[in-house]
Amino acid sequence: MTEKVRAPFAGLVPPLGPSPQHVAIIMDGNGRWANSQGLPRTAGHEAGEISLMDTIAGAIEAGVRYLSVYAFSTENWRRSPAEVRFLMGYSRKVLRARRDELDSWGVRVRWSGRRPKLWTSVIRELEVAEEQTKHNHTLDLIMCLNYGGRAEIADAATKIVSRVVKGELKPGQISEKTFASHLYLPDVPEVDLLIRTSGESRFSNFLLWQCAYAEMSFVDLPWPQFRREHLWDEIAAYAGRERRFGGAVDKVRQ
Ligand code: FPP
Repeated sequence: MTEKVRAPFAGLVPPLGPSPQHVAIIMDGNGRWANSQGLPRTAGHEAGEISLMDTIAGAIEAGVRYLSVYAFSTENWRRSPAEVRFLMGYSRKVLRARRDELDSWGVRVRWSGRRPKLWTSVIRELEVAEEQTKHNHTLDLIMCLNYGGRAEIADAATKIVSRVVKGELKPGQISEKTFASHLYLPDVPEVDLLIRTSGESRFSNFLLWQCAYAEMSFVDLPWPQFRREHLWDEIAAYAGRERRFGGAVDKVRQ
């Protein structure tokens, strides 16, 4: 039985200040949380589904336009075969079970990641969700599955080289803008706020290009305990930060 999550705007939303347009989340700590409860690691991933749905609802309420979530990395294949199997099957199940609910919230589901190795049935489920929700524009939910930041950069380089070989591009035309236009989802803006749960402070190969100027928040809670209110706390903190993008302002009065 799929547990219901409070739909966006079915409760009170506090005033939050200006929202980041693109929030990215490293949903970490599922396994440790489960083990601390005497449960197998997979129970942590199951509990993480509710956190994910609640966070999506909270992001919509906060006015976030793009939400990228790290569901399975190109390095996660190193986990035990049983855990990999579970994560593949569970991703498929979550996509199928939550598709209509996400659609009714106006969410457009999108996939970012590499095709090779990813289970065909998972790709199929992603494509069904993408097709069903393609006209929604409340929030783009970017499911990063078999995703790696270095892999994405290497894949962009491969596409550019093949265009150069075909004579479609000259080496001198390859600017940062050209490069970015060869990433998996070139229309998605850079990340404004990167959140990682579980107290670890690492990037772990997530959206390396897109996070160049992201503000970072490391939250000391395992992902299964994360809820929309925690997202709002991070958004409120983000609103108070000064983003300079390499620029500088001299604040000493003359
Ligand atoms: C990281 O925690 C989490 C993952 C690798 C999987 C994320 C999956 C979900 C949140 C489940 C719901 C969503 C989908 C689409 C399947 P970890 O296992 O690395 O935890 P640890 O650091 O404590 O070991």
